[in-house]
Amino acid sequence: MAREAGALVRDGRPEHVEVAATKSSAVDVVTAMDAESEALLRRVIARERPDDAILGEEEGASAGTSGLTWVIDPIDGTVNYLYSVASYAISVAVVAGPPDPAEWTVLAGAVHSIVDGRTWTAGLGAGATLDGEPVAVNPAGPLATSLVGTGFGYDADRRRHQAQVLVDVLPQVRDIRRLGSAAIDLCLVATGSLDLYYERGLNPWDLAAGALVAQEAGARVTGLRGRAAGVEMTVAGAPQAVSDLVVILEAAGADSDGNR
Ligand code: IPD
Repeated sequence: MAREAGALVRDGRPEHVEVAATKSSAVDVVTAMDAESEALLRRVIARERPDDAILGEEEGASAGTSGLTWVIDPIDGTVNYLYSVASYAISVAVVAGPPDPAEWTVLAGAVHSIVDGRTWTAGLGAGATLDGEPVAVNPAGPLATSLVGTGFGYDADRRRHQAQVLVDVLPQVRDIRRLGSAAIDLCLVATGSLDLYYERGLNPWDLAAGALVAQEAGARVTGLRGRAAGVEMTVAGAPQAVSDLVVILEAAGADSDGNR
């Protein structure tokens, strides 16, 4: 399903992509393809799993009766899609439990990177794969030699504080990458192309599939101050490396938006 939607997004890309609408701020954009890709994913789910609920980035929640919910991001990395920067993906996860993401169990997930065609998959307790081959996170090393991915929100005040957090993180790590798709970032942790990743403000559709891929590849995926990963903060990487980064992020108040 993720590959089918990926083919639609890849083959249907016009030469000049237009912004169809904006959401939380002028820089939080939607294209016509976001809606088309979500419509395709919803059609497949409705055909194959008519009793399941769906939570999608563009159309929101539709109810089901099975207790399972498909959590879908039709293009994760929409700004990259807009500018033809190669990191954008379809993210699909299926979760069990009540509608509150804090109480979900993510059962399976797939992240399909549209431009290079790579697909990561994971099943709870069944490991993670990239194009069918098992993957594993890098062993924890010192922060000073760790490559760290992150991302920024769409709100100016949040970004101001995120820039301040970066002032504390950047001098202590090998380098920072802001690649523009949270789902792919989490998969890059799973495959060892990033040692660590952190971001505040992720929505369930950005996070669900990639977090399971990272976790099943041996990552610890967590929030700060003993809380679970989620909208407040998500940190992923080898367990000891995550513990080291968490100390810096907690001290910097990275799970807040600072003093507005
Ligand atoms: C965004 C991307 C980006 C992250 C943002 C997300 P979208 O998702 O994952 O990397 O920094 O927080 O909202 O809007 O392109 O689906």
